[in-house]
Amino acid sequence: MVASIKQNKQKNKGLFITIEGIEGVGKSTAIGFLQAYLQEKGKSFLVTREPGGTEIAEAIRKLLLAHYNETMTQEAELLLMFASRAQHIAQVIKPALKDNKLILCDRFTDASFAYQGAGRGMPEAFIAALEKWVQGDLKPNLTILLDAPAKLGAQRAKHRGVSADRIELEQIQFFERARGCYLVRAKAEPDRFQVIDATQSLVQVKTKLTEIIDSLLQ
Ligand SMILES: Nc1ncnc2c1ncn2[C@@H]1O[C@H](COP(=O)(O)OP(=O)(O)O)[C@@H](O)[C@H]1O
Ligand SMILES: [Mg+2]
Repeated sequence: MVASIKQNKQKNKGLFITIEGIEGVGKSTAIGFLQAYLQEKGKSFLVTREPGGTEIAEAIRKLLLAHYNETMTQEAELLLMFASRAQHIAQVIKPALKDNKLILCDRFTDASFAYQGAGRGMPEAFIAALEKWVQGDLKPNLTILLDAPAKLGAQRAKHRGVSADRIELEQIQFFERARGCYLVRAKAEPDRFQVIDATQSLVQVKTKLTEIIDSLLQ
C-alpha cells in the first residue's frame, strides 16, 4: 500500500492525506496527534477541513450547519458541499500540493458518498459526476479511515459535549449506513485507504497512525 502511495507522490507533488470516519470516531483527535507528531519531526504540513478551509468555503459551512425554518433539500446540501470543495481545492489543496506540502484534511469526498449518498440516499452516480467535474483527477494520496460502530462514536461525541438529542436512533442508523459505505469504499480502493479499528484504545490508534506516517515519510 505505502509503496503505491509513494509512487503516486512522485507523480503528483506534495501529499494529500484525508481523515475519514463517522461522528465521534476520533478524526479530530487523530489530526491533533498527527499535527504534533509531524511538528516534532520537523516536517512542514498544513491542516484543513471540509466543508470549509477557505473564507468562502467556511461561509458555506456556516450555511450548511445553521438551522432554518425550512428543510434544506438533499440536492442543495450536496451542491453546497461541492461548492465549498471547489473553493477549497482551488485556494488551498492545489497550491499546497504545488508547494510540495503535506496536507492533513479532516473529511473530503468520501464523506459526500458516505453521508449524502449512503446516509441520505442520494444516487451515487450524481456524486461521482460532481466528483469528476469538480476534482478532475485530484484524489487523496492516502485516506485514513477510522472505523467504529455508530453507537460508540455517539457515546464518544456525547462525552465531547455534543448534545444528546443530536444523536438519536435515526441518526445511529444514518451513521451506520455511512460507516458501511466508508468500508465498501476502503475495500474497493485498498491502495488509497488505511483502515484503523477505532474501537481500540487511543494509545493503540496513535501507534497505528505513527506506523502509517513513518512508512510514508521514510
Ligand atoms: N480511541 C479512542 N478511545 C477513546 N476515546 C477516544 C478515542 N478517540 C477519540 N476519543 C475521544 O472521543 C471523543 C470524540 O473524538 P473526536 O476526535 O472529536 O471525533 P471526531 O472528530 O471523529 O468526531 C473525544 O472526546 C476524544 O477524546
Ligand atoms: Mg471532529
